[in-house]
Amino acid sequence: MFRSDLLSGKVILVTGGGTGIGRAISEKFGSLGAKVAIIGRREEVLKETSEDLKKNGIETLYHRCDIRNPDEISKAVDYFNEKFGGIDVLVNNAAGNFVSPTHKLSPHAFDSVLNIVLHGTIYMTLDLGKRWIDSGQKGVILDIVTTYAWTGSAFVVPSAAAKAGVLALVRSLSVEWAPYGIRHVAIAPGPFPTQATKKNLFPLEGMEEALRERVPLGRVGTMEEISDLAAFLVSDGASYINGEVVTIDGGEWLKGAGQFNDLLKLTDEQWEIIKNVSKKR
Ligand code: HXC
Repeated sequence: MFRSDLLSGKVILVTGGGTGIGRAISEKFGSLGAKVAIIGRREEVLKETSEDLKKNGIETLYHRCDIRNPDEISKAVDYFNEKFGGIDVLVNNAAGNFVSPTHKLSPHAFDSVLNIVLHGTIYMTLDLGKRWIDSGQKGVILDIVTTYAWTGSAFVVPSAAAKAGVLALVRSLSVEWAPYGIRHVAIAPGPFPTQATKKNLFPLEGMEEALRERVPLGRVGTMEEISDLAAFLVSDGASYINGEVVTIDGGEWLKGAGQFNDLLKLTDEQWEIIKNVSKKR
């Protein structure tokens, strides 16, 4: 889909790059010539991903880092700067989420999601943004949000509140930091099943299947599709896209929104009856 040198010369830091969407995006960036820096909470997962990337000829480094801790972020970024000579693109991908009735949640449970998704994203963005602005370097920030950042969603309320905050961050900083040459964009993925989403969001038999039925295109997304979109958005080809959130969900959220969308279920015979009834004077 792209020229193989689309991202060559760029150093890209991906949070949560050891697993799931973060890993797929990291592989894609590397295959298009970027140097990839990945961070995450689990050293062994980072090590394994990094070794797999290297086997595919990708130049990569990892550093264990919990994005809830600004000091750990600062150390990781120092390390990548020293080894790679600066970071050009930040991808805020790391997230935490689980389904639960909201009234059953403790304050700590709320904090655990908000601290990763909202505060962690803010700490990462602040660290890189300050460095870029101080040194006069340009940069790109890509945040992974979700469609319920603007619709809200029952049973994932800490995540919905946090992702709405991240979206506000994208739209605010895309204006405030544009004069420094920092572009800020987001992707809102629909269903892209990963090990973490299976465990935390669709733990019961049939939950994932039911989700598929919500999507007008009748299927979930592939890692190839989301990582292609990410590669385009961070590339120089997208240099006039700023403050935008691109939805990639097969039409899922709009299906839930349109008042008459459930009529998709009607048969031809039922449409014929409707026509005859509604045409009668
Ligand atoms: C109710 C729960 C819970 C659950 C945890 N808690 N899981 N409460 N139901 N299923 C509560 C705990 O009881 C505790 O509160 C508090 O939350 C913190 O739990 P810890 O396990 O100590 O937290 P921590 O180790 O920091 O882990 C954070 C986490 C975890 C979010 C809870 O699931 C995680 O690390 N997830 C990372 C991977 C992940 O979730 N990926 C999915 C992202 S998908 P108490 O009061 O008991 O101490 C995504 C996409 C959105 O975001 C769009 C989808 C379409």
